[in-house]
Amino acid sequence: MAGAYLDTRLKGRDYLSISDFSGEEIRLLLDAAHDLKRELKAGIPHPVLQGKSLGMIFTKPSTRTRVSFEVGMYQLGGYALFLSAQDIQLRRGETIGDTARTLERFLNGIMIRTFAQADVEDLATYGSIPVINGLTDLMHPTQALADMLTIEEHQGKLAGLKLAFIGDGNNVAHSLLQICAKVGMHMAIACPPGYEPEAGILAGARADAARVPLGRGVRLDVVADPFEAVAGADVLYTDIWASMGQEAEQAERIRAFTSYQINARLLQAAAPGAVVLHCLPAHRGEEITGEVLDGPQSVAFDEAENRLHAHKAILALLL
Ligand code: CP
Ligand code: NVA
Repeated sequence: MAGAYLDTRLKGRDYLSISDFSGEEIRLLLDAAHDLKRELKAGIPHPVLQGKSLGMIFTKPSTRTRVSFEVGMYQLGGYALFLSAQDIQLRRGETIGDTARTLERFLNGIMIRTFAQADVEDLATYGSIPVINGLTDLMHPTQALADMLTIEEHQGKLAGLKLAFIGDGNNVAHSLLQICAKVGMHMAIACPPGYEPEAGILAGARADAARVPLGRGVRLDVVADPFEAVAGADVLYTDIWASMGQEAEQAERIRAFTSYQINARLLQAAAPGAVVLHCLPAHRGEEITGEVLDGPQSVAFDEAENRLHAHKAILALLL
């Protein structure tokens, strides 16, 4: 048992947004994830969270996030509790503050997936234990870390690469913008008018890129043409057109996003050797064709596996 996951510099911190971490801290999280993955594959146990418990509050559905955090805690020697927001007193109006002040008496950390970013931030403010953002309408920061781990494995580096995100300027796109700025990766988002990333997030990521040593010269662009976005891209990325909570807009979104699909023709226009990522769940035939998602350039299921290793790194370093 040896590796970057034993580092204590991030102990006690929250994981609410990528923007809270420096480029060096992102590097530490990635190194820890690589080390934990290598040890797991070699059969080396790493029970660094023995006696520790994580509460997992879900207001939205999940497959990957829930299972990877739960299995991750188990592999680290700790315990994870699934707390459906339907079944705890939050649903009946108990405040976030009282929930935080109660849970901190039992737990060593909380992972929460919900709608409002402000609720996650309140949970962190009222409680004294680390809070991990497992997706809000605004951000998906644990996903972005697993994505960088996947890109590094398949492309051998991060700085200087170009990622093209095709589709909705949503939570996943926001966290990718923030992490690209920190690791020195160019990013171009192609989206229909009206579905751009939030201006404040884009401006913040650009300001971060200008500050971070690896970020100098990094371009974070928003364009309308998917072919312009994928020109020279080493990584293609997409996500569903209607996110959780936007089900009522499904038909309207399908109309708006029709020409924003990752298909064989678009992939051909990227750099040779480009890899395709998708945070999943996917809708084959909408944002991505089955041919591409199940094809040789897709690394979407390695990406799904890497949620486990990335989340274990976050848990080991913060808890
Ligand atoms: N990518 C992702 O967060 O998947 P789940 O919604 O299944 O957790
Ligand atoms: N943007 C998607 C991501 C799912 C992992 C959603 O919020 O539903």
